[in-house]
Parts: sequence; structure tokens; C-alpha cells
Amino acid sequence: MTKIAIASDHVGIELKPAIMAYVQSLGYEVTDFGPDSAVRTDYPIYGKKVGEAVVSDDYDLGILICGTGVGISLSANKVAGVRAVVCSEPYSAQLSRQHNNTNILAFGSRVVGLELAKMIVKSWLDAEFMGGRHLRRVDEMGAIEAGDDAEFERIRQSTEARYQD
Ligand code: RB5
Repeated sequence: MTKIAIASDHVGIELKPAIMAYVQSLGYEVTDFGPDSAVRTDYPIYGKKVGEAVVSDDYDLGILICGTGVGISLSANKVAGVRAVVCSEPYSAQLSRQHNNTNILAFGSRVVGLELAKMIVKSWLDAEFMGGRHLRRVDEMGAIEAGDDAEFERIRQSTEARYQD
């Protein structure tokens, strides 16, 4: 069963229980990485927790909720190996997985309501990474993250032979 790590901040916590229930109803195992109250906190704490959980391989995917989805996704993206996307509509959520192989979805409880959030989550979970030319681009992102300019150039030069992609 696909294991999903979820977290929020004190603003995003408003949507979290309903999103957890929805994701469970779709057949996924969901673990809450906090917080467990709406006491003011800092979104990087929770972006880091879920980012590390997903990269550790103990979890397959992550979902993060703050006021806008921005701060918590930026924080998760500081963890090497995380590709977190913030979405406020389903199309980008779907494409972010198909093309960019995102492993964390974020959204904002001040931006989307529950029903739209559920559509975004379902579109993201239903989509699969398409690989092929998209894998090359994801690998280029990985080389940037690793600071490996030689690897980036190696992939880039192999790309130039296939510019039509
Ligand atoms: C908290 O006030 C707010 O900044 C946070 O939930 C989020 O929107 C940050 O990106």
C-alpha cells in the first residue's frame, strides 16, 4: 500500500483532518507528522519532517498544507531529493507528477476550499510519472541539486541531440 506522510502548519491544520480521511478513503495509508493543534508554529518544521520522511523511503509521497502552500513547499524543497509542488488547481497537480515526478504536493488552506483541495489531491495521486524525456529533465534537476556541473553538462549534451522532444 502506498504510504503518504502528511503535515501542515497552524493555518493548514484546518483542512488536514478532512484531507487525511479523503486520502484514506482512496486506499492510501496516511501518517500525520503534525502539528496536532492550531497553536502558532513555523511551517519549515513540518516541511522538513515530511521531506525527510519521503526521502528516507519509509514513505512514498507527501502532502503539505499551510496558508498558501508556498512556505511549506519551499521548506520541503530544501531537503535533497524532494520535488515539492504547490498547486491550486488539478491540471498542474497531474502534470507535476507526470512530467516532473513530484513526490510532495502542497496547497494552501487560505487559497483552496475542501472540495477543490480534494480534486487537486486526487489528480495528483492518480497520475504516474511518464519517464522518457521527462526523466532526463528530472535528472538534470538532480544534478543541479547535487552541484554536479559535470553530470549536468553530460545530460544536457545528450539532450541537444534530441531537441525535438
Ligand atoms: C502563516 O501565517 C503563513 O505564513 C503560512 O501558513 C504560509 O502561508 C506560508 O507560506
